[in-house]
Amino acid sequence: MTTILALESSCDETAAAVVVDGRRMRSNVVASQIELHEVTGGVVPEVAARQHLRAIVPVIRQALADAECDWADIDAVAATAGPGLPGALVVGLNAGRALAFARGLPFIPTDHIEGHVCANWLVGAGEATEAPPLPALALVVSGGHTELLLMRADGRFRRLGGTRDDAAGEAFDKVARLLGLGYPGGPAISRLAAQAGKHRLRLPRAWLRGSDDWSFSGLKTAVQRVVAQPDAPPPAQVADAFEESVADVLSAKTAYAAEREGVRSVLVAGGVAANPRLRARIRERVEALGIPVFIPPPELCTDNAAMIAAAAARHLDAAVDPASPLDIHSTLPPAERATMLTRR
Ligand code: KG4
Ligand code: ZN
Repeated sequence: MTTILALESSCDETAAAVVVDGRRMRSNVVASQIELHEVTGGVVPEVAARQHLRAIVPVIRQALADAECDWADIDAVAATAGPGLPGALVVGLNAGRALAFARGLPFIPTDHIEGHVCANWLVGAGEATEAPPLPALALVVSGGHTELLLMRADGRFRRLGGTRDDAAGEAFDKVARLLGLGYPGGPAISRLAAQAGKHRLRLPRAWLRGSDDWSFSGLKTAVQRVVAQPDAPPPAQVADAFEESVADVLSAKTAYAAEREGVRSVLVAGGVAANPRLRARIRERVEALGIPVFIPPPELCTDNAAMIAAAAARHLDAAVDPASPLDIHSTLPPAERATMLTRR
């Protein structure tokens, strides 16, 4: 049995969790900065970094208290090393290293994207859910990323495609702003779209045929044009047409790639995977192929530290001495990122 204390601070959530064997969550504490960033309508990196500094120690204490464990129960410390906002990442990474150093524990720098994927392995106390069978196709859709990855039977990743411009979550956030909704845009757009009723507004889809890529910047421009018209449709209809367009292209290409690659499961993850329409569309299309779909509950789709522990547990052999020179990687070419952990 391996118990990992994991930290996550790559964007606007300060999080800590205690997870056993990469699956069983003993605690999962998330301090959100949403209220702080509502004022500016988005994340200001320096503001986020300062808030992580304030929140990290109380969040770690809470995670240990909720798990009802003390340091003797912890076998390793993990923290997100990237990708993410540099000033935000260094807070969690260095807090994790310092704790590991002080307690004589191994330290596991962990990839945030792999963390999102591995959220599909997490279970709460007493739950018995089957683990996703590999090889799997993973769609990671968040505020900063839209990635289609092949997770092989040995747990290593190969990147198939992703967004060529805006991330899916970024598109939700930008369109929410155009519609005068608050931050974060995803949940606000969903709530508004639910009030649309029947209508005929249809927004474009960029299919980028022959690739596993997406593009969302044209859709954002289309929304901009529609809302600027003198006889603009009601915002609820725009929100609905936008959400449908995103869910359609994401689910269609995921299903297509899943069939082509012959995977045994499809894993969806990241903040946008909390979107009910996207969840439903992907299930419809992928399950019609006889391939099971795994999507974490919404609270494990958005950033959290339990997912970092789940990813770290797959790389115990890549643990490092916390005193060794270590740096964050705020961005990394996706192809490299996919093998980052095994390259070390
Ligand atoms: O994974 P996440 O918490 O942070 C990143 O790693 O980026 O994702 C945040 C993103 C935001 O863009 C937010 O608008 C989007 O996830 N999001 C949603 C929903 N909940 C969060 N997008 C669509 N529908 C939702 N229900
Ligand atoms: Zn994330």
